Amino acid sequence: MYDISRRGFMGAGAAFFAAAGMSAQGAEKKEKIQGFDERDAGKLEGKKWEPFSDKKVRVGIAGEGFCSFGSAFGYQTCPNVEVVACAELDAGKRKLLQERVKAQKAYASCEEMIKHGAEDKLDAIYVATDARSHIRLAIMALEHGINVTTAVPAFLGKDQLEFVPKLLDAVKRSGKIYMMNETTAFRPECYAMRKLYENGKFGAITYTEGEYFHPGGNDVDAAKNLPHDHFSYGAWRWGLPPQYYPTHSNGFYTCVTHKRFTEVTCTGVASLKFPYRAEAKNEYGNPYGSEYAMFKCEDGSAARMLVAWDNPGYGAEMGRIWGQKGCYVPEKGGYCGWFADEVKKDASYLKPQLAPGMDLGGHGGSHGYLTDDFVRAILLKDHKVCVDVIAALNMTLGGVYAHMSAMKGGETLKIPEVTL
Ligand SMILES: NC(=O)c1ccc[n+]([C@@H]2O[C@H](COP(=O)([O-])OP(=O)(O)OC[C@H]3O[C@@H](n4cnc5c(N)ncnc54)[C@H](O)[C@@H]3O)[C@@H](O)[C@H]2O)c1
Repeated sequence: MYDISRRGFMGAGAAFFAAAGMSAQGAEKKEKIQGFDERDAGKLEGKKWEPFSDKKVRVGIAGEGFCSFGSAFGYQTCPNVEVVACAELDAGKRKLLQERVKAQKAYASCEEMIKHGAEDKLDAIYVATDARSHIRLAIMALEHGINVTTAVPAFLGKDQLEFVPKLLDAVKRSGKIYMMNETTAFRPECYAMRKLYENGKFGAITYTEGEYFHPGGNDVDAAKNLPHDHFSYGAWRWGLPPQYYPTHSNGFYTCVTHKRFTEVTCTGVASLKFPYRAEAKNEYGNPYGSEYAMFKCEDGSAARMLVAWDNPGYGAEMGRIWGQKGCYVPEKGGYCGWFADEVKKDASYLKPQLAPGMDLGGHGGSHGYLTDDFVRAILLKDHKVCVDVIAALNMTLGGVYAHMSAMKGGETLKIPEVTL
């Protein structure tokens, strides 16, 4: 019997350490978290950064959990931002977050920060709390007239589907910006794919692939000998169905084409590594360590999107796209595909320079670009964010329906369309 109590974990943990070929006592060091050391944004366009506004957006930041994501997106180094407030439930992390982002005020919860939004003249908040709270906090911010961006995913699983129309309604009624910080969107390869797509280079898209292989449980807390899933707030990562975290793979289609998935069939593979997953003894009733989805897409193309907690990664989030006129296939150590040379020669396929001193952050140097995108959209009337509410929901919905398909033995499911 495995549950998320400490006693329950120790059974599962013993099996994990045995499978990993080490004793529980032997797991001394905390391994690095995949994606965080990828701070290279790739080759940049080379043009000097041009100031675009003399205004500053007044921002509040919530959440400094296991990944320290609140402080990792460069708000504190962005010349068009004033970090007015921050919020964390945990007092120690709140202090850290406040120091790191140099916030003037610190609140005991994101809800409190939103309630004081008018008093603090908050223009925007960035929600880096646990995945389960994103959509509820985003709706609350919009209802208070505050622009919002959240970490991924937009919402967590089948149980939160009811929030989807509420989020769309809040965006429509507030007229404010909702964005999701999908890091894939500003990886250099995805950026190039999007530009090639917008320039019509691919012709009609025929096929896309994306993978997010993140071997769970490899990030071991040295002091407590527990995989980091255990420490996620409310244990939201514990037994998480892989396709409930689908945005890093689905992003290679959605953040390029801005089109949606219409149908899905998905194969779930039982977790061999973690008994607490394999026996579905988790709050999600999830037995799978890997979920491999095939989607039909709005433009008639197909997409094969994989999320796995059990497979060793071979890089980070990766993806490639094919069209009738050509393909773009980034590989480790270089690029192949028809447009590889064009992307090398034409600087407009490369990411632009960020403001001097602005922190790029990890995941392909994408963090700073997501912050820049959000801030520009608030300050400039004609700037639209890449990952808007429709893109965020399409990426997330695709995965949630993929998991539902896997649980039904791969039955093909139609994915609902969301509109504003
Ligand atoms: N590549 C990526 O895009 C990427 C990578 C890592 C993490 N993430 C996302 O970043 C977020 C944080 O991840 P994590 O591993 O640090 O999560 P976590 O569960 O370890 O931490 C969440 C933190 O949020 C705080 N919190 C919860 N509710 C709050 C509230 N109402 N007000 C204030 N604080 C609140 C908790 O106290 C906790 O410290 C998650 O949404 C995750 O999906 C994205």
